[in-house]
Amino acid sequence: MRTLTTLGLLIAAFSSLFYFLDSHLEKFYIFEPAHLHALSKKAIALYGNDTTAVVNHIVSDLHANYPAHVNLDEEWMFNNAGGAMGARYNNRLYIIHASVTEYVIIFGSAVGTEGHSGRHTADDYFIILKGTELAYKPGPGSYQPEVYPQGSMHHMKRGEVKQYKMDEACFALEYARGWIPPMLFFGYADTFTSTLDFSTLWRTTYVTGREMLGNLANMKL
Ligand SMILES: *[C@@H]1O[C@H](CO)[C@@H](O)[C@H](O)[C@H]1NC(C)=O
Repeated sequence: MRTLTTLGLLIAAFSSLFYFLDSHLEKFYIFEPAHLHALSKKAIALYGNDTTAVVNHIVSDLHANYPAHVNLDEEWMFNNAGGAMGARYNNRLYIIHASVTEYVIIFGSAVGTEGHSGRHTADDYFIILKGTELAYKPGPGSYQPEVYPQGSMHHMKRGEVKQYKMDEACFALEYARGWIPPMLFFGYADTFTSTLDFSTLWRTTYVTGREMLGNLANMKL
């Protein structure tokens, strides 16, 4: 009986904490979609299709503004999330920032990719650095793809689902804000159902966990 009461109290405490945090999430954000978009457009104006230089410019600018929250180490890893809808599993990503409420990554592929966006617990901003992204959100009268060229920003609201496609080489600066940990399960699912690439799973977990804990240690939720 006493155990049950304690359990009930704990659940009540956690739910109130969750509701409190959920309604105050924006207080924890350090990045701004409009700023990331302006920074990306400036980098493209300076370096065009030299994507290495574009990414370097963005990352050094972010590091100058948020020295404690930006990973300068370009650790690229595979990511096979949402591959069920497409035939190709070629996404790559580099984690610039990961905390409990935000992540900033470079996401893309030099040979193109396609997939299901996933239904996420965060708002997602996808800024195209190179190439073009097509997106499709089924609905009444919706027969045309949404087209996102270089320099544009694709905002997917929390809870929204789309099919997306990046023909040929396409890279984006992706910024997500909301609850990040639940998104990781989507990112992992394909490992168990299709790729069985556990060394990538371990590496993604290690790098994400290291960045999240590092940010928590710096008082960044
Ligand atoms: C990048 O390359 C594409 C395809 O060749 C071209 O359409 C686009 O204008 C180029 N972008 C810049 C900023 O030079």
